Amino acid sequence: MLTKYILFISLLSLIFVKLPSARSQCVDLNLFDHTQRHGKLCPQIEDSLKKGSSSLLNPIDAPLEQIENNNMIQILFTCDEKNKPELCKKAKLAFQNVANVISDTLDFKVPIIINASFTQICGNFMNCDPTKPGPLGAAGPSRLIPLKDDDGKTRLYPQSLVKQFKLEKHPEFSEVDIQAGFNSEISTFWFRGDPEIGVDQVDFELVLIHEFLHGLGFLSSWDDYLSLDNPTALTPFPSFLITTDDLSSNIGPIKFTGFQEYPFDRYLSLTKDNIPLSSITDKINQFANSTTTFANEKEFTDAFTNSSQYLECKQMLQNSITRNSIVFKLPDDDLYPIETSLVPYKSGSTLKHGDYDSFSNSTDFLMRWKSPRQVTMENLLSVNGNDTNYINPIGPKTLKVLEVLGYTIKNNNNKVQTDNEVKQDDNQHNLQSTSGTESTTIHSSTLLHVLLMTITILLF
Ligand SMILES: *[C@@H]1O[C@H](CO)[C@@H](O)[C@H](O)[C@H]1NC(C)=O
Ligand SMILES: *[C@@H]1O[C@H](CO)[C@@H](O)[C@H](O)[C@H]1NC(C)=O
Ligand SMILES: *[C@@H]1O[C@H](CO)[C@@H](O)[C@H](O)[C@H]1NC(C)=O
Ligand SMILES: *[C@@H]1O[C@H](CO)[C@@H](O)[C@H](O)[C@H]1NC(C)=O
Ligand SMILES: *[C@@H]1O[C@H](CO)[C@@H](O)[C@H](O)[C@H]1NC(C)=O
Repeated sequence: MLTKYILFISLLSLIFVKLPSARSQCVDLNLFDHTQRHGKLCPQIEDSLKKGSSSLLNPIDAPLEQIENNNMIQILFTCDEKNKPELCKKAKLAFQNVANVISDTLDFKVPIIINASFTQICGNFMNCDPTKPGPLGAAGPSRLIPLKDDDGKTRLYPQSLVKQFKLEKHPEFSEVDIQAGFNSEISTFWFRGDPEIGVDQVDFELVLIHEFLHGLGFLSSWDDYLSLDNPTALTPFPSFLITTDDLSSNIGPIKFTGFQEYPFDRYLSLTKDNIPLSSITDKINQFANSTTTFANEKEFTDAFTNSSQYLECKQMLQNSITRNSIVFKLPDDDLYPIETSLVPYKSGSTLKHGDYDSFSNSTDFLMRWKSPRQVTMENLLSVNGNDTNYINPIGPKTLKVLEVLGYTIKNNNNKVQTDNEVKQDDNQHNLQSTSGTESTTIHSSTLLHVLLMTITILLF
C-alpha cells in the first residue's frame, strides 16, 4: 500500500519537475561574521551529481590541497605549511581521522566537500579582543537552499543535506558544502601524539566533529537578527533582509516575505504546552504579507518591533533562557532537550546545542555548547558517563537528530553500539529510487519527504 502511494507521488513529481524553472534565493553564510550573509541567486539546474562525482572538484582551481583519504568526505585543506609544517601535519591528520569517524557513522549518498582551513583567524577573518582568549574556530553550511517541505513551509536547507536527497533538479550548489576554519594561533588544541592533554586543552578532533555536525545541519535558525548586540527578541532567519549581489533591484524597498526556519527547527517544540516552534513562526509571519513594503531596514524594524507579533518574539527569547523549555522531538516520543539555560542569551550557543546538564556524563555529550577539556577521543570515559561500550563520540540521540533531518545512519556495531537497536525492518522498505536506474533501500519517511520536495522546490 505504501509502495502504491509512493509511486503515485513519483508520477506527480515527473509532471511537476517539468515546470519552467525559476531562480531561488539561496543564502551564503560568512563563517566568522554572522551579520554578513549574502543572498545568492541560484538557478534551478539539472542534477550535476549524476555525471559522476569525480568531476566535482574540478571547478576549484586551488592553492588548496585535497586530503586524499575518504571517498565520501572530501576535504580541501589550507594551512600555513611554510611557517608551521609540524602543526599543519597534525591538523591534517586530525581532519583525516574526523572524516573517517563521520563517514563510518553516516551513510552519505553523495560526497560532502569541506573547505577546511587551519590558519590565523584574528586579524584575517575577524577582529579579536586581545585581552580575551582567541576563538577556536567555526564551521557551518556554505550555502542554505530554500526547499518547500511536505508541511508546506519553505525552509533553508544546508547544502550537504540537499545533496543527499539526490533531487532531479535543484538550485545551484556552491562549490563546497561546509566551510570550516580553525585558529592555528592558540595553545588550547590538543593533537594526537602530543604530550598528555592539559587541564585547559580540548582535543582538536572532538571540536572538529562537533563543528562538522553544525555544518551538516545541526543548527537552529532562531536568533536575534535585528539586535545582535543586545538580544531582546528571537526570530527565524530574516531572508527578506539580505541583499543579493547580482540583483540590483533588491537594494530598493524591503518586501516582507517571512522569516525562514532551517530543517532542524521543524522538530523543535515548547515543553510547557507542546506547541511546535513552527506554529510560532507562522504567527510571527502574519506580521505582513509581501504586498507591504518598507522603505529600508530601519523602517521595517521600527514597524516590526511595534507589532503584536513582536511580543511572540520576546516570549521566544524568554523561552530560550529558561531551562527545559524547548526540545527536539525524536521518533517514538523520545526527546532531545535543547540548550536554553544560558542567562543571558548567548548567540551561537543558546538553542544551537543540546542541553548542557542533560547530556553531561552521557554518550551524547558532544553537542553541548562547551567542548570537554582534558578529554581525548581515545578515552571518552570521563565525559560519556563511563560507558566503555559506546566509543563513537557522536551519541545515539545525536544520531537520531541527524536521521530525522534526513541523513542515513550506518548500522556499524563496531563503532556505534546503541542500547536501542535501530529498527531496520520496521522503518525501511525496498523502493525504486527516483532516478529509476537503481534500486536503493531508503528510509520510507525520508523518501516521501524527498519526493514531496522534488515537486515543490521553491520558485521565487
Ligand atoms: C575556502 O576557505 C578559504 C579561507 O580559508 C577561502 O579563502 C576560500 O575562498 C574558500 N574556498 C571556497 C571554494 O569556498
Ligand atoms: C496583505 O495585507 C494587506 C494589509 O494588511 C491586506 O489588505 C491584503 O489583503 C493582504 N493581501 C494578501 C494577499 O493577503
Ligand atoms: C507604534 O505604535 C504606536 C501605537 O500604536 C503608534 O503611535 C506609533 O506611531 C508606532 N510607531 C511606529 C514606528 O510604527
Ligand atoms: C558528571 O560526573 C561527575 C563525576 O562523576 C560529577 O562530578 C558531575 O556532577 C556529573 N555531572 C552531572 C551533570 O551529572
Ligand atoms: C567506571 O566504571 C568502572 C567499571 O565499570 C569503575 O571501576 C570505575 O570506578 C568507573 N569510574 C567512574 C569515574 O565512575
